[in-house]
Amino acid sequence: MQLSPRRKFLQQLLAASLTGIALPSFAASTKLIAPTSVADEQYWENLKKQFSVPADYVMMNAANLCPGPIIVQEKVLELTNALNKDVSFQYRALFSATRKKSVSLLAKFVGADESELGITRNTSESNCMIVHGLDLKPGDEVIIWEQNHPSNNEVWLSQAKRVGFTVKKISVPAEPKSVNDLVQPFVKAITSATKLITFSHVSNVSGLALPVKEICQLAKARGIMTHVDGAQTFGSMIIDVHDMGCTFYTASTHKWLMGSFENGILYINKEYFGRIWPAVIGGGWKEATSVDAQLCVLGQRNEPSPAALPEALAFHETIGKKNIETRIVQLNTYLKQQLKKNVPQATFVTPLAPEFSGGIVIFNLPGKEIHEVNDKLYHTYKIAAAPSGGIRLSPHIYNTMKDIDYVVKAIGELAK
Ligand SMILES: Cc1ncc(COP(=O)(O)O)c(C=O)c1O
Repeated sequence: MQLSPRRKFLQQLLAASLTGIALPSFAASTKLIAPTSVADEQYWENLKKQFSVPADYVMMNAANLCPGPIIVQEKVLELTNALNKDVSFQYRALFSATRKKSVSLLAKFVGADESELGITRNTSESNCMIVHGLDLKPGDEVIIWEQNHPSNNEVWLSQAKRVGFTVKKISVPAEPKSVNDLVQPFVKAITSATKLITFSHVSNVSGLALPVKEICQLAKARGIMTHVDGAQTFGSMIIDVHDMGCTFYTASTHKWLMGSFENGILYINKEYFGRIWPAVIGGGWKEATSVDAQLCVLGQRNEPSPAALPEALAFHETIGKKNIETRIVQLNTYLKQQLKKNVPQATFVTPLAPEFSGGIVIFNLPGKEIHEVNDKLYHTYKIAAAPSGGIRLSPHIYNTMKDIDYVVKAIGELAK
């Protein structure tokens, strides 16, 4: 069949978009560049134009969900529209190539080999794949941190009930004085039966950051596997899984990476390849030589979302991993200082020391109910926070110091 010039052009355009060649985009009107200095407030003010959050709203819940930049939103829309025009086997084959590209870029982003990383739906799914897929037996022990997310907490208890292994839940000091204060509770819980230690890098219910490398290294030296839930650090801190020494690392792309929605990552160190049984079996899993092919390619999925990950990663990397990490610490530190100064009745759940926290600030207002404050922040002031272990704020690069001043003022009014 002879293609009309228009149809031919469209096909080329779609093929180009799937193979990652830059396409004209109406979002590209403001060119994205890296800041010359992280302290340049005007740069961050301008960066807001890359997002579609209305000017009178303040999204400060990155720990929960982040808005994607317009360039990522457009890519998902463009691919969704294209797929709805052509669902042929031939056209959809192009998504396999983009998936490989996304896997490869994500792996590079966290310092993993391409074969060690798979794309799941979210951190919850990745976590549960580990819990349900590991061959543990009665008599084995798993150490979990009491502050783990339910997808890495409750699920261990239910699996232990089913299989008969033991779960040891440990706590750490809320106000650590040293790294050792955070490491020792893990060391003390280890026995000769310990098979795995699993914990959040940064807790979603306290904002406390654990010394991941120290814990992973001490476990490795004893032949114990480690699983780091990186939902609160992937995209907000520079991550190198090989340097960290973890066995498994899980995270979501719709949090601090800023897009696209409904993608997670599952990293499995190559020495442990094949140790996770698939819960859902996809074609070709037995012959698979990569985590993605063995555990994550499961039937028909929403392919435009993972296909837009190269745009999300390019956006992040153009601003710069180090710049983003530094800016998040800057915002977090300023938020803590301003709250302490202007709302003296606020009590902090998150340690004030930056070395023991990440991008999250959690606090309480004595005599005020958490959900009520959270709802008032949204309905009266258009501020998105979260009720999680207290009132949780998690500013990201689409927030500015002005936003923090506005949020602190609102909290001051609600504290009265
Ligand atoms: C530490 C941690 N793990 C897992 C999750 C679940 O993430 P998702 O909803 O993307 O699966 C969250 C969400 O807040 C989290 O904070």
